[in-house]
Amino acid sequence: MDLQGKVAVVTGSGRGLGLAYARALAAAGAAVVVNDVDRAAVDAAVATITAAGGRATGAVAAVGDSAAAQLLVDTAVTEFGSLDVLVTNAGILRDRVLWKMTDEDFDDVVRVHLRGTFTCARAAAVRMREQGTGGRLVLISSPAGQRGNFGQTNYAAAKAGVVAMARTWAMELSRAGITVNAVVPVAATEMTRTIPAFAPVIEEAERTGSPLPDWLRKQEGLGTVEDVAALITFLASDAAKDVTGQAIGIGGDRLALWAHPQEKAVALADGGWSAETIAAQWQDGVGAEPESYGIPAPKAPEA
Ligand SMILES: NC(=O)c1ccc[n+]([C@@H]2O[C@H](COP(=O)([O-])OP(=O)(O)OC[C@H]3O[C@@H](n4cnc5c(N)ncnc54)[C@H](O)[C@@H]3O)[C@@H](O)[C@H]2O)c1
Repeated sequence: MDLQGKVAVVTGSGRGLGLAYARALAAAGAAVVVNDVDRAAVDAAVATITAAGGRATGAVAAVGDSAAAQLLVDTAVTEFGSLDVLVTNAGILRDRVLWKMTDEDFDDVVRVHLRGTFTCARAAAVRMREQGTGGRLVLISSPAGQRGNFGQTNYAAAKAGVVAMARTWAMELSRAGITVNAVVPVAATEMTRTIPAFAPVIEEAERTGSPLPDWLRKQEGLGTVEDVAALITFLASDAAKDVTGQAIGIGGDRLALWAHPQEKAVALADGGWSAETIAAQWQDGVGAEPESYGIPAPKAPEA
């Protein structure tokens, strides 16, 4: 995939998935702005990319407010002359069950994931529209946003919002030739290490130096950060010029298109429904096949 001449910003790319995205985009020829809150991580990432023959510069900022978003766009334009690709990847977790979640837990996660995606995408869209040469917004979501997840009120809400924004912006930005997609990744990182179901499997693979087991890569779609980066490079490329408004899952050996919510069962009542008529038909009618919810816990195959 050739991204020569393209300029990309990847938020939260000092480590983890973001770093893999930045490295992959640079390896394909894009000039990359590496952003993170962690200066040492940014410097190390820029050094790694340039040592591999890529072009990169750093921008230390906490994604969330408009000033940080503008700084990232300005850095791309000042250092490399344009902005063609934005990957909104920065994120944090503050997991707690609803009744223990504080206002701060909620606001901190929403600020980085949801507000950060909004402010960065808005600044990028303004610039890309001025340039008039199209662009790519790649918004990082999560299975938690698609399905809901225990202990992740703040995160699931923010990540569901990210997909909703992708669909909205795909409509708003299509005339400008700017594609907008949500990516639903799964990979072994510092973040997934905090998920109890994944932690022991990741630790075991690291301890033994063996790759993650085949069932995990295929069934659960859990693999390396590089596995996910391939999709970011594709979406950034000309090959994906007609791909927009989608939520695309990737991880391990798995690539998937997520369905968008739509009405699944419909019943009509002349003049509308009463609580009693809803109750009378629910079990054998619209409610006959309720939807499942939550991310199913990883299950190893029987030995
Ligand atoms: N790892 C997975 O399986 C997985 C699954 C679904 C979604 N995601 C999403 O992918 C993204 C990256 O996840 P990861 O696993 O690599 O996490 P990570 O914790 O390893 O990396 C996140 C990076 O974002 C940076 N960051 C945090 N707040 C920031 C801010 N305000 N501004 C700039 N940078 C900030 C961190 O310093 C860190 O370098 C996140 O949005 C996460 O929600 C990851």
